[in-house]
Amino acid sequence: MDKFVINGKNKLYGEVDISGAKNAAVAILPAVLLTRGECTIENIPDVQDINYILDVLSLLGAKVERLNRNTVRIDASGKINTVADYEILNHMRASYYIVGALLGRFGKAEVSMPGGCNFGERPVDLHKKGFEAMGAKVSVSGVFKAEAEHLRGANIYLDTVSVGATINIMIAAVLADGMTVIENVAREPHIVDVANFLNAMGGDIKGAGTDVIRINGVKELKDSITYTLIPDQIEAGTFMVAAAAAGGNVLIKNVIPKHLEAISAKLEEMHIEVQEFSDSIRIISSGITDKINLKALPYPGFPTDMQPIAVALLTTARGTSMVTEGVWESRFQYVDELRRMGAHITVNGRMAVIEGVESLTGATVNATDLRAGAAMVVAALMADGCTTVRSIKYIDRGYEHFEEKLRALGADIQRVSDPYEC
Ligand code: UD1
Repeated sequence: MDKFVINGKNKLYGEVDISGAKNAAVAILPAVLLTRGECTIENIPDVQDINYILDVLSLLGAKVERLNRNTVRIDASGKINTVADYEILNHMRASYYIVGALLGRFGKAEVSMPGGCNFGERPVDLHKKGFEAMGAKVSVSGVFKAEAEHLRGANIYLDTVSVGATINIMIAAVLADGMTVIENVAREPHIVDVANFLNAMGGDIKGAGTDVIRINGVKELKDSITYTLIPDQIEAGTFMVAAAAAGGNVLIKNVIPKHLEAISAKLEEMHIEVQEFSDSIRIISSGITDKINLKALPYPGFPTDMQPIAVALLTTARGTSMVTEGVWESRFQYVDELRRMGAHITVNGRMAVIEGVESLTGATVNATDLRAGAAMVVAALMADGCTTVRSIKYIDRGYEHFEEKLRALGADIQRVSDPYEC
């Protein structure tokens, strides 16, 4: 296992390129199984979650070919297994998209239940409800099993705004008989990206990005397409916050500024300078920030995946900030790690109160999940002295060459093997 060793207080200067959207990729790659044709997907981030998905697609029988580090060609024309009980699936939550894709094309799927980041209960009842409304028999225990002779269009209302359920139902509905209407859907940028991909394949989806999506089932999909993923909203946000925290002047390139508006607005409220261009954002910061209140909400609200990273920044803001988690039940476990570095944070249910301190102090901390791991790195950039971030396997799940990108901006960060971690 590896760890990061970071000496804080270096300002960040220069330019950083943002990779493709991991959360779009983990849905689009399984959705490739809908077609007998060949799909080439570009701008795939080179991260562990993608390696897991590509391995699962190979094990299921698809031909997976990496054309270069960020481009992959997948051919699902051969025999595809509809049972996926591989150990590997337990490493990633997004494996449930394989159910939507296999059910959509073959009318049956059996996939081991997902693991992934742990921040409270992670139900799949809405996925189940959607598939059942379309005529499938579904059971969910250790295995997510769904079967339908004919998937048919249905009207589905999601009681909670869910990214996963929105995408999974959309994938399953592409080849269903008739029209599926999903109401109260999530509107995250990667939902629009998945819909664009499915339409490029020959699907007929309207409304992605609004709160009602209409999928008119089609009989078949195209033989061959090439699709390029959008940039990663959360990776871009992480570099915006890292630059704000460390101080300096950083141009964050290959982004869609519209997707980052909630983050830009909050940084400006903290008195960080944010300059927007057509496909880049510049952050200029002295490293001194002011308190804010924020609430993590579904898009276009402040992204929940940015919440831990924003809290890390607020640990040294002038004044007392309040952060409310509006999506996940329990997403503040990581604050104990920030406290080891001298942060003053109290948590009450879904709310954290952060009393800004003069400076954090380097310590040994754990990445408790993917975004909490990024938060530890941001905290380490601001801290006096040396911080060791352990369990960085979580960070490797979702950030492409994180330390290399930070080092190119001037951060003092090294990846070191950690013989004591199992
Ligand atoms: C995705 C993201 C994750 C992000 C989250 C919210 C991926 C791979 N992961 O996760 O990083 O934090 O969106 O932006 O894209 N819920 C139900 N029933 C369900 C499904 C969800 O009640 O069947 C609830 C959840 O408990 C949670 C809320 O809905 O409170 C949002 O979950 P959801 O949007 O589904 O998250 P994921 O798709 O798992």
